[in-house]
Amino acid sequence: MKKLQQLYEGKAKKVFATDDPKKYIVDYKDDATAFNGEKKGQIADKGIVNNIMSNIIFQMLGEKGIPTHFIEQLSERETLVKAVKILPLEVIVRNVAAGSFSKRYGVEEGTPLAKAALEFSYKKDELGDPLINNDHILALELATEEQLATVTKYAYAVNEALKEFFLEKGLKLIDFKIEFGVYDGEVILADEISPDTCRLWDVKTNEKMDKDRFRRDLGNVEETYQEVLSRMKK
Ligand code: TMP
Repeated sequence: MKKLQQLYEGKAKKVFATDDPKKYIVDYKDDATAFNGEKKGQIADKGIVNNIMSNIIFQMLGEKGIPTHFIEQLSERETLVKAVKILPLEVIVRNVAAGSFSKRYGVEEGTPLAKAALEFSYKKDELGDPLINNDHILALELATEEQLATVTKYAYAVNEALKEFFLEKGLKLIDFKIEFGVYDGEVILADEISPDTCRLWDVKTNEKMDKDRFRRDLGNVEETYQEVLSRMKK
């Protein structure tokens, strides 16, 4: 597999073409941003942690019948994936109040939610990724009705699988963000699942084991990413 020209550089990853038009190579960076890029930094070896962890999780989800873009890990930071067209939606599932949900509704962080709550943001940096509802997604033709139904079904299924998976590692899944893409006309899970995109709290101490350590300057950022990775491998 030949790595060809760079197609895209995001905040945390670069995407490269390959000699197969149906496959991309993603290359995970150590760059970290928060608040729509306002806060910038680096987390040493984050790219390695997020690459390995995403791949472990995508394989686990694949075994549970959720199709993903994952094909094969190529190196510490690089993975071969299916060349999807990303739907411009951030798909967020919440089990416990935190972050923007707590702020928007005035609910204390850590309050369990009566049901897993799905929400969408419109992926558009210029607008700061605003919250969007199902009708607006259809009205703007960001996804078809069928795609939206599939995304919804997979999002809840991913939540169930991830909750169980992380609990075995001593981590409570507070919330997470996933993204989907279209490949051969089908909706599949893409992007990454990592401490950048999930809130994970230690089951015993409630310590934050995710990117909130960077966002909120809580310290021990690198150590936390390494600890999460070491738990993934157990
Ligand atoms: P929020 O509470 O800030 O809306 O975040 C909800 C979840 O989504 C949390 O697990 C962090 C994740 N997330 C991303 O992956 N990317 C983003 O740009 C934002 C704002 C949140």
